Amino acid sequence: MSCSTRASTCWPMSSQLREIYSTEFPLINRYVDILASTGVEWGLLGPREAERLWDRHILNSTALSGLIAANSTVADVGSGAGLPGIPLALVRPDLQMTLIEPLLRRSTFLAETVETLEIVDRVKVVRSRAEDHHKSYDVVVARALAPLDRLIGWCNQLRADDGVILALKGKSAGEEVETARSQLQAAGLDAEVLSVRAHPDAQPATVVRISASA
Ligand SMILES: C[S@@+](CC[C@H](N)C(=O)[O-])C[C@H]1O[C@@H](n2cnc3c(N)ncnc32)[C@H](O)[C@@H]1O
Repeated sequence: MSCSTRASTCWPMSSQLREIYSTEFPLINRYVDILASTGVEWGLLGPREAERLWDRHILNSTALSGLIAANSTVADVGSGAGLPGIPLALVRPDLQMTLIEPLLRRSTFLAETVETLEIVDRVKVVRSRAEDHHKSYDVVVARALAPLDRLIGWCNQLRADDGVILALKGKSAGEEVETARSQLQAAGLDAEVLSVRAHPDAQPATVVRISASA
């Protein structure tokens, strides 16, 4: 897998990023380069995304970190090119991450990337649809997977009884929660919309956190 350095300095705050992610920065930067080169060549990301990998993809993914307890098992459903699962695994080496992705090209990219980054001991790639994968996890994360009502159907069966689903969403998060209200009630689930940031200067990420009703 070829890497370039073309995306390494794209985010103007890369010096601050070096401070926040001091130990992890070189590996995250390597992943950014893989996305900008192989990820774009394989058609997993549009060419215009290469210029906004840090703010739009990496920091949006790592914003979830503060919502995940130490040493959790985590499933990233519909991981695509590894978002949010790979950035989270890079900043949180305590997590056991499983990337679930049904498409061959994407799961091949994921397996090669995990090997290149030398994180195979803590990041597993499973080529499967969520509904065909029968394991449970402390935390199920998803980004750009599906509308919330469909996402709940796919992700809730992967959630441990006391686990949570963290869905990265856009501005429609509140409306999606309302649309999924009857489904949430039927499944005994509560949902709350949160705004979290990886860094005070980063764009906030909107997250729907779903857990069993108290
Ligand atoms: C729009 S992409 C998002 C990829 C990545 N999460 C991101 O934020 O860039 C949606 C991904 O979900 C995967 N997907 C679709 N249906 C799925 C299912 N039933 N179970 C697991 N993954 C699924 C697709 O193959 C695709 O890679």
